[in-house]
Amino acid sequence: MSASYDNLNTQNQASYSNNRYDEAGFVTPAGRKKRTSNWIKFGIPLLILVIVAAVVGGVLGSRSKKSSSSSAAASGGSSPEQSAAAASSAVSAKLAIGRFATATNSEFMQPIYPSTTDSAVFGAPTFVKSTDSKTSWPADSFKPSSPDVLTVRPDRPRLIAPAYKWAALPTLIANDPYLQGWNATIFGNATQYKAAAPVVYFMDGDSGILDNAREIKMRIKAFAYVYRMTNDSSWVDRAWEEIQNAAGNGSVVFGPDEDRWNSAHFLDTAELSAAYGIAYDWLYDMWSPDQKSQMISTLLKYGLQPGVTQVTTSTGWWRTNITGNWNCVCNSGLTMASLAILGDDTSGVAEQLLQTTVDNARDNCAQAVSTDGSWAETANYWYFGTTGHAEMAASLLSATGSHYGLMDNNANFFKTGDFHMYIQGATSLFNYGDHGPNKFSTTANSMMFYADFYNQPQYALYQRDQYDAGEPWSMFWYDPTIAGAFWDGKPLDHFFDNFVDQWASMRSSWTDRNALYVAMKAGMNQYHQTHNDLDVGDFVLDALGTRWAGELGSADYRSPNYFTNADQNGDRWKYYRKMTEGQNTILVNQSNQNLLAAPTVKFDTSNTTQGPTTVLEVDQDSTAWFTTDMTSAYFDATSVKRGVRLLNGRKQVLVQDEVTAAGSVMWRMHTNATIATDGTSATLTLDGQTMKVQILNAPDGATFTQSAAKRFDTDPAPAAPDQDNPGVSVLIISLPAGTYNLQVLFNPQWPGDVSYVTPPSVALDQWTLRSHDS
Ligand SMILES: *[C@@H]1O[C@H](CO)[C@@H](O)[C@H](O)[C@H]1NC(C)=O
Ligand SMILES: *[C@@H]1O[C@H](CO)[C@@H](O)[C@H](O)[C@H]1NC(C)=O
Ligand SMILES: *[C@@H]1O[C@H](CO)[C@@H](O)[C@H](O)[C@H]1NC(C)=O
Ligand SMILES: *[C@@H]1O[C@H](CO)[C@@H](O)[C@H](O)[C@H]1NC(C)=O
Ligand SMILES: *[C@@H]1O[C@H](CO)[C@@H](O)[C@H](O)[C@H]1NC(C)=O
Ligand SMILES: *[C@@H]1O[C@H](CO)[C@@H](O)[C@H](O)[C@H]1NC(C)=O
Ligand SMILES: *[C@@H]1O[C@H](CO)[C@@H](O)[C@H](O)[C@H]1NC(C)=O
Ligand SMILES: *[C@@H]1O[C@H](CO)[C@@H](O)[C@H](O)[C@H]1NC(C)=O
Repeated sequence: MSASYDNLNTQNQASYSNNRYDEAGFVTPAGRKKRTSNWIKFGIPLLILVIVAAVVGGVLGSRSKKSSSSSAAASGGSSPEQSAAAASSAVSAKLAIGRFATATNSEFMQPIYPSTTDSAVFGAPTFVKSTDSKTSWPADSFKPSSPDVLTVRPDRPRLIAPAYKWAALPTLIANDPYLQGWNATIFGNATQYKAAAPVVYFMDGDSGILDNAREIKMRIKAFAYVYRMTNDSSWVDRAWEEIQNAAGNGSVVFGPDEDRWNSAHFLDTAELSAAYGIAYDWLYDMWSPDQKSQMISTLLKYGLQPGVTQVTTSTGWWRTNITGNWNCVCNSGLTMASLAILGDDTSGVAEQLLQTTVDNARDNCAQAVSTDGSWAETANYWYFGTTGHAEMAASLLSATGSHYGLMDNNANFFKTGDFHMYIQGATSLFNYGDHGPNKFSTTANSMMFYADFYNQPQYALYQRDQYDAGEPWSMFWYDPTIAGAFWDGKPLDHFFDNFVDQWASMRSSWTDRNALYVAMKAGMNQYHQTHNDLDVGDFVLDALGTRWAGELGSADYRSPNYFTNADQNGDRWKYYRKMTEGQNTILVNQSNQNLLAAPTVKFDTSNTTQGPTTVLEVDQDSTAWFTTDMTSAYFDATSVKRGVRLLNGRKQVLVQDEVTAAGSVMWRMHTNATIATDGTSATLTLDGQTMKVQILNAPDGATFTQSAAKRFDTDPAPAAPDQDNPGVSVLIISLPAGTYNLQVLFNPQWPGDVSYVTPPSVALDQWTLRSHDS
């Protein structure tokens, strides 16, 4: 059933036309007719089949030879001649095929993969390492035997992209369709930034000037990249204009003279410091001595001296046990800037900072990944945290030859690529908690760095088709010897069982944008760096190319006491989007969940994996389930258990709740769909698709109702008004105190002749993989 419904969803087709690959000239834009990618158009002619089969065969051969060693793939396996031959056929095949994704969905920004059952075109993820300069990065000749954070490489640039990488890049671009596309994207973006005025200072309440800082960093990266690829000094001039502007030396005011980079919200300072570091280092040979000393004086005054205050006084709160994005971003910005000016800085500040930022990031930032790979803040904060972490580790590696434990002090860090892949649904993230500020220079391209470092090629294969892949870091983190399909052999389900996170991810396909996806969390209502909601039992549900059960996201960060979350009665817990009633879970006595909840979870999966093709027909008995005893999350209940499972070969979903409560019981789910209720049934319509929802074995009085997504009149008043949630409705089952078994069945109305099952009633404690077979 999870075949691609390419011929349906016609209302979406038109909007795919202006896809982001246009500028690279790979995919013809407008209209459905020409949307087909080259290799589909060719109908997989024999030539390509042969080439790819050879590559895949070589790859599989070299893998199986050493399949017990996890580094087998990276070491390249077979003989040098075989490797060279494989690599050269890989280039031909790569260029003939182009990118795997043919376009990006305009609503959810997801890659659209062609629908094909041809198993010859995709293989298992691997690196086909070779020494062919057309396809492989050369080795770095800077390899200090005992790296020291104060001993930097002799040549420039130092940060992330040393000169030997720039020298190799044009040839690699010519031989790789992804690098070609990203290069073109960066040029296009840089051209837009160049035409715009320098970033205008805007103090955005508690969020400070973070958007400004990140936008400046994004622009500097692009300007410096295009200069180095063209030698056109107008890009240096434009970078200097941005540098001057951020120093307050431009034509308009940029913040107060005494603290232009807003050191009270140190993320802003750190990102601007990173921007200065990149500009200084990547354009080093272009700056006059005066320009260099001006940049150093401004960087010291507004970035690094305030940094010293942060690391030597209690103002640097983010240094102590903050295992989250703040620690990563702040340490990374200070480190990149310090590495950039080390040796030219006569104040000693750069040296002083490097002697503390690296250890601090190792002990905090690198611990932000839980034992199960989850980024404990939220799915969205993963982007900020891993961007900071990867930039810092990559800068240290290129500049000094070591990561000083940032990459391996936490032995589970490598799993965070899986966290990112599994928390991405068929449409969007399982985006519980806060969504964070605008991303600008923040992307998921750390996936490419981690793929290479941890020998997890599927991370890079996944990220390379994403909309945010085209920016300067990916040009240097991507290893073009990578081959295969990320989905080949990838399990459809994964359970994250660390007590802080406890969540489940289940889907019917990795490559079908219409796939079923359901994710549910239990976990702690604390320990997420102030970004969580009171949301044990919360879930999202995708099917038919849209999101049926979704999240409200952040409220306004500038609202009073938005981050006051340490007490049950903290002001954060009075904002609708953060309260339990604003989540897709059970509400008891119209009250918030207990901040101190400590749920338990169980789960199982049929271990279904996707094969090499983009069309997956799962077996009828392919399933997964997740249950949680979340009694501890409630004050007025003696037992609250919730479970979710896939039914009927992953075509249907059952959400079941077993509740005994002394207060009222309410089942709530937020949706952008239009809801029509009819007793124990509800019909949801959205994006031209239909979802039928039904209460099975309905207890007396259990019917569906709906309401707007807003607080009850009886709720305690928040410190500032809630934001509206336009277009969002709540599907509700509302019952008085009592004992209930609520079984809610979701039947996405799949096209074609699909038969739906009505599952038996099975107590949550009795659930097994086979408990719901008919
Ligand atoms: C990078 O993209 C620009 C703009 O499309 C293009 O002019 C340039 O040739 C590309 N660089 C390489 C090495 O292909
Ligand atoms: C960069 O260019 C791409 C492709 O044209 C576009 O989709 C994207 O929005 C641009 N990014 C920015 C930040 O302008
Ligand atoms: C830019 O200048 C450098 C140094 O002179 C040279 O090696 C490089 O080939 C030039 N690049 C371009 C695109 O002209
Ligand atoms: C900005 O102007 C100040 C004051 O003249 C000067 O000290 C500083 O070096 C300048 N910085 C830059 C980047 O131009
Ligand atoms: C930081 O965490 C460690 C280990 O959990 C703990 O011993 C220490 O007291 C904490 N420090 C602060 C300042 O909270
Ligand atoms: C409604 O759609 C918006 C835009 O796609 C999305 O951000 C939001 O999470 C959705 N809300 C729900 C409740 O699904
Ligand atoms: C799924 O894989 C796990 C871990 O390898 C194993 O313990 C379990 O028995 C497997 N389940 C099935 C149904 O194959
Ligand atoms: C429900 O909550 C109210 C306060 O909001 C409390 O007074 C009442 O005792 C609670 N009901 C039960 C049954 O615990």
